[in-house]
Amino acid sequence: MYQYTDFDQQFVQLRADQFRDQLNRWQAGKLSEDDFRPLRLQNGWYVQRYAPMLRVAVPYGEIASRQLRVLARIAREYDAPEAAVFQEAMDGQSKLGTTFLPTHCAHFTTRTNVQFNWIPLSKSADVMDLLASVGMHGIQTSGNCIRNTTTDALAGVAVDEFVDPRPYAEIIRQWTTLHPEFAFLPRKFKIAIIGTAEDRAASAWHDVGLHLLKNSAGEVGFKVFVGGGMGRTPVVSTAIRQFLPWNQVMNYIEAIVRVYNEHGRRDNKYKARIKILVKSEGQKYIDDVEEEFRQIVEIDGGPHTIPQAELDRVKACFVAPALPDVPDVAPAALVQQLQALRAEHPAFGRWLARNVHAHQNEQLRAVTLSFKRVGQAPGDATADQLDALAALVDRYSAGEARVTHDQNVLLPWVHGSQLFALWQEAKALGLASANVQLLTDMIACPGGDFCALANARSLPIAEVITQRYQDLDELDDIGDIDLHISGCINSCGHHHSGHIGILGVDKDGKEWYQITLGGSDGSALSGPAVAGKVIGPSFSAAEVPDVIEVVLTTYRDLRQPREHFVDTVRRVGLEPFKLAANAVRTQAQASVAA
Ligand code: HEM
Ligand code: SF4
Repeated sequence: MYQYTDFDQQFVQLRADQFRDQLNRWQAGKLSEDDFRPLRLQNGWYVQRYAPMLRVAVPYGEIASRQLRVLARIAREYDAPEAAVFQEAMDGQSKLGTTFLPTHCAHFTTRTNVQFNWIPLSKSADVMDLLASVGMHGIQTSGNCIRNTTTDALAGVAVDEFVDPRPYAEIIRQWTTLHPEFAFLPRKFKIAIIGTAEDRAASAWHDVGLHLLKNSAGEVGFKVFVGGGMGRTPVVSTAIRQFLPWNQVMNYIEAIVRVYNEHGRRDNKYKARIKILVKSEGQKYIDDVEEEFRQIVEIDGGPHTIPQAELDRVKACFVAPALPDVPDVAPAALVQQLQALRAEHPAFGRWLARNVHAHQNEQLRAVTLSFKRVGQAPGDATADQLDALAALVDRYSAGEARVTHDQNVLLPWVHGSQLFALWQEAKALGLASANVQLLTDMIACPGGDFCALANARSLPIAEVITQRYQDLDELDDIGDIDLHISGCINSCGHHHSGHIGILGVDKDGKEWYQITLGGSDGSALSGPAVAGKVIGPSFSAAEVPDVIEVVLTTYRDLRQPREHFVDTVRRVGLEPFKLAANAVRTQAQASVAA
């Protein structure tokens, strides 16, 4: 994985020192609340419903075991509320009828970052020092700037990859970090890069999606998409360039962002994302970008053209690690070995089929550890789990892991002959659920339990559905499905792209939920990216699990052989699902009336 240079290390430490000074001045009353707010936000410190929330950047999801250990230490020693704060939070929870306030946890996000929900601001500088000790920080994890560039969790190991996207993501990271022209955009700006035909990074839902490809002459370049985003106006991005030579990617992004900087709506927060500009201006936006690009290249001399030597330097940082010191097994013998183990241990076979992915190196496999289980929020990891994960990453994956868009963790360098040992250890830790891509492998935002912007809670809904669907045979029968939950229209839980989406809405100060069906993140399973459609009026929290159940029963009644949920919804339309869902409300109302 990419190794930071001494310069990077010094840069991150200086940033932590600067933040300590800012915190000290704020605590001493020398900086006002208004002055301190942007400074803490620029380092990833939000203030949420009960406590500060820290977002830590994990560039393109790559994370080292030594970084996981520091996250474990932060979770253990710092991710706990002060007593009065916790009491207030618990009182609020009991009014709502459930308790779901995990502490001493890190939370893996859909944009492959890590968040903490409880660290007091008074300890924030100590936490930044700890992060800096392993090259981590919160720079550009908040605010109207270019955020973490994300990619496919299988980047560099995927068998269907044309070009490894990570070196380009790293070059973009270096170039955009603290770039003054990108620091005060009209709104936040997110880029995703993929190097495969299948989109496993939800790139169509990003402000910029970069698809690596090779043209007929075998030259590497990008198809460029702009203007994707969710929120209250979900928009799938538009292709604005069919082939951009790879070395022009920074010049072209500069053109995209310059036109956005100039014409984006700064007067209205809800219309400020680039998607609104692209949608309203259409071809004019594309023409403006092409003209800006022409000027950057022809008049300014293309100052950000990437030299081959620089690409080679960055690529060299992504060489595959040395294989573990285990005997080589011929691919055919490995398949036989695994078949024998599968016959003896059906649960292992199930895990192989669901959680283990083919690899560019036939000796190796990539393995998803599932962070979706009863009693823990989707994507949450306790301090002990993080330490145990770090040990697994060292033992089985050359010290490297990946945070995935689906809020799991992927081990990219596992030797085939070690899969069984890894499975046994992961199982003992509760991280070997064979539920990848099934109903319980859901995405959820922090929702009303933590987030000040929420209309409703996400985590208790996720928990009730997870509890209800624990039978793997039943989950397998329901098959591949994306369930996504957001606590409000900001759409952090990507409800728009869920085959089933759950959205928290506010009615008379109470929590209600809208259900959408048929959304897609653009993956091979889901088909072209599209926003789901709402079925009926909203449901109460108590009704939601029953509504999900009848929606799934309706699918099972109507599906054709081997037809996935999302395909049945597309074939039969929403009506049968609406009818089934509305019957839940009618029954519930009848029982209240009785
Ligand atoms: C609790 C703290 C959080 C707050 C206050 C927050 C706030 C917001 C807001 C206001 C937006 C909308 C921006 C816009 O459309 O202009 C947004 C978008 C987004 N958030 Fe969060 N968020 C939080 C946590 C998370 C978490 C934990 C995740 C991942 C699980 C996440 C993922 C996203 C994503 C992917 C978007 C972009 C959706 C889009 O394309 O429009 N956020 N967030
Ligand atoms: S979707 Fe809404 S409730 Fe959920 S984290 Fe985002 S802003 Fe908060």
